[in-house]
Amino acid sequence: MEKLVIKGPTSLKGEVTISGAKNAAVAILPATLLIDGICTIENLPNISDIKISCEILEKLGAKITWNDKNSITIDTTNITTTQAPLDLTSKFRASYYIIGSMLGRKGEIEVGMPGGCKLGARPIDQHIKGFESLGAEVTVEKGTIHAKAKKLKGTSIYMDVVSVGATINVMLASVLAKGTTTIDNAAKEPHIVDVANFLNTMGADIRGAGTDVIKINGVEKLHGNATYSVVPDQIEAGTFMLAAVATKGDILIKNCITKHLESVTAKILEIGGNVEDNGDSIRVWCNKRPGKANIKTLPYPGFPTDLQPQMGVVLSIANGTSIINESIWESRFQYTDELNKMGAKITAQGKTAFFEGVKKLYGAPVYSTDLRAGAALVIAGTLAEGTTEVYNLEHIDRGYENIEGKFRALGAKIERVTE
Ligand code: EPU
Repeated sequence: MEKLVIKGPTSLKGEVTISGAKNAAVAILPATLLIDGICTIENLPNISDIKISCEILEKLGAKITWNDKNSITIDTTNITTTQAPLDLTSKFRASYYIIGSMLGRKGEIEVGMPGGCKLGARPIDQHIKGFESLGAEVTVEKGTIHAKAKKLKGTSIYMDVVSVGATINVMLASVLAKGTTTIDNAAKEPHIVDVANFLNTMGADIRGAGTDVIKINGVEKLHGNATYSVVPDQIEAGTFMLAAVATKGDILIKNCITKHLESVTAKILEIGGNVEDNGDSIRVWCNKRPGKANIKTLPYPGFPTDLQPQMGVVLSIANGTSIINESIWESRFQYTDELNKMGAKITAQGKTAFFEGVKKLYGAPVYSTDLRAGAALVIAGTLAEGTTEVYNLEHIDRGYENIEGKFRALGAKIERVTE
């Protein structure tokens, strides 16, 4: 078993370069199934979710060559089966994108029910509603999803909830459908725009991604023969911004799109941190105890749920009592029990948590309960006095490339240790 051992406290100082966005990359890889040819994808984060995505694509018949640790060339000319490996697809959430892509490419697919972080109920009814509106038959039996369609036909789909996954999945299924598909009440996250940009580079005709109405004019074929670079990870950048504030540090965060970080920037300024926006890099520093704030997580451009636990660490040591209302996931406060082991005073009740700020956290053995909770515990271990051991690293490794290397380069005393 591996753990991260962190000796604190340290103020993080220096520069960090942000990797490609996990939540864009895990959709772009299955999107390559729509191409009858070859393409190269660069700026892929080197994380376990990407490795599993590649394994699934290979099992479906794709040929993948790694050019370096962040770039692949993928040939999807010969897709040989419509049965995705059930064990691998059940391992992570984004495997559901195989459904949209394979419905478009082959008109049929069987996948395991998607896994991923346990954040409460994670229904996929809006994905299924979208596929059925396009003319597919979808059945879910014994943990397996089977989707089939003779020919998908463009239509208008209104999403009952704003869903990142359902928006992307319906977009994937409609790219090669006959006619025009309209998605109303679409999600607007930067990764949705990135997936649309990727598909358009390959020959698709998608308009309006990044607004709440997306129109997809079906095309006959995607041509491939192009190189695409994944957008920088907004959540990794936000994680380091909040790490700078939490540790009273000074970090220059390079390779990010600062426009994607406005909600975090606004909150950092509100609690007394400093932000210098350089367009493609952002410097965040803080030399005093942060002030209290109230946060409500919302779909983009609101404050992202995927930065809620990292913000929770900042508020756990803020001057005063703060409230976080988590409006996306039912169960995203599991990390507060771990922070309380380190001396925090947090009371979580359902989707609301109260943070009575303390002056210091103290090192303790703690367990990542999900991906972002894991990142939050690494920040907490860095600012805490004494030694923190973070366990369950498989969650962190799903979404952060070389987290200990990046923290160490900023001065943290952090080591990965195998027990
Ligand atoms: N929802 C439904 N029905 C659906 C789909 C979603 O009711 O068919 C509800 C969900 O229960 C939730 C809300 O809609 O309450 C939003 O869910 P969404 O579909 O947007 O989430 P997702 O696509 O499953 C992605 C990210 C998550 C991130 C959320 C919200 C990926 C692979 N995952 O999940 O990322 O929290 O959007 O922004 O893109 C993470 O990276 O740590 C992570 C959990």
